[in-house]
Amino acid sequence: MVPQERDTFSGKFGIIAAAAGSAVGLGNIWRFPYVAGENGGGAFLLVYLSFIFVIGVPVMLSEFVIGRKAQLNAFGSFKKLAPDKPWYIIGLMGIVAAFLILAFYTTIAGWTLEYLYQALTNGFNGKSSDELRATFESFRSGSVKPIIWQLVFMGLTAAIVLAGVKKGIEKYAKILMPLLVLLIIIMSIRSVTLPGAAKGLEFLFKPDFSKITWKVALEALGQAAFSLSIGMGALITYGSYIQKDNKLTTTALQVSIADTSIAILAGIMIFPAVFAFNIDPTEGFGLVFIVLPNIFQQMVGGYFFSILFFILLAVAALTSTISVLEVVVAYFVEELKMTRKVATLVGASSIAVIGVFCTLSFGPLSETTLFGKTIFGLFDWTTANLLLPFGALLIVLFLGWYLGKKVITDELTNGGTIKVRILGALVFIIKFIAPIAISLVFLYSLGIIKL
Ligand code: PHE
Repeated sequence: MVPQERDTFSGKFGIIAAAAGSAVGLGNIWRFPYVAGENGGGAFLLVYLSFIFVIGVPVMLSEFVIGRKAQLNAFGSFKKLAPDKPWYIIGLMGIVAAFLILAFYTTIAGWTLEYLYQALTNGFNGKSSDELRATFESFRSGSVKPIIWQLVFMGLTAAIVLAGVKKGIEKYAKILMPLLVLLIIIMSIRSVTLPGAAKGLEFLFKPDFSKITWKVALEALGQAAFSLSIGMGALITYGSYIQKDNKLTTTALQVSIADTSIAILAGIMIFPAVFAFNIDPTEGFGLVFIVLPNIFQQMVGGYFFSILFFILLAVAALTSTISVLEVVVAYFVEELKMTRKVATLVGASSIAVIGVFCTLSFGPLSETTLFGKTIFGLFDWTTANLLLPFGALLIVLFLGWYLGKKVITDELTNGGTIKVRILGALVFIIKFIAPIAISLVFLYSLGIIKL
């Protein structure tokens, strides 16, 4: 068989833009504020930041190494690097995670499209905080509108994935991401200058150590994994498109720093406004959607900014959903020998069907619960807090212990051609620190070990 030529990213900025495009999305702007709000603010932020560096960066690096070495999709990479060993289970778990994430993520992504529509039609104008909340609640508990938006979003994702890695994924990430950052900064300035805003900054940055519990630790670990797009092979798949001369350590560090800074900026944009408008920080899934229109109301040029913001938010979500769908599509194409077109259609449409149930969890199916969570809540919680961290654990174990130091050194130094100063420390973190840290959080937070 003649090996099919694989698509690669065009250069350094292309890789960073695509990987950061995957990482930066609703995880930063929608999920981070709601999870931080529910888990004590400052205490959560502190634990979250430590996990980003002790666990997140090494796992991201490990995914890049595995993908670039194997030059295959997430499942195929393990099959190739560990023939006849069951490590490919990590790849299968990743595909399951991709299905579940995309199913609930497109619900929220659909909300951003509705909000873009409302922004365009000047729908926030003149509404009080209570009215804005009521509009949101009546929208999300409906069926037809949120489902249509969800399907539109899934269609957009599929269209870009269909175009292929370079033409599709890279092009969109490059231009619009920096613009999003700029806009969040402008909105943060408005938010922190609102009367009563100081309380929000205090909530976000002043850790109350008594609030740090194992449950908070698990939520922080899950948020770190979700936000960095690690633990399910999205970055193994992207790693397989990275050129051989790229310095992976720098790329992983830059992507993680960009992602984390944007989450913190989103916090600075949201929490001061939360307190200024008397909104409950533990509001949950709807937090950002209730807070943002209030900020636009108080801004000079709010109409213009609201349109721009929701366009950029939708694009940020899109660069993330394409990386999730790409996991599924690359697997279908390379392992099940489908054409890219069939793979994209089959993947996107089957996930869309599951996704509809997530959307309906805010309306007709809101009473359908398991362990006290709706379908949406269950998908969100289990993927972020169980599947991704568990996948991350297996990934560092695979690289650190199965492939071992020589492979790590070889990939990180590009075959000895570049110097990586912190190489020894990285190997140590991948082999010991990251797996131990993840295991401890699991064992204690799930009550497997009791203090
Ligand atoms: N990191 C993305 C976000 O923050 C979501 C995502 C999770 C993407 C897992 C890929 C894999 O929005």
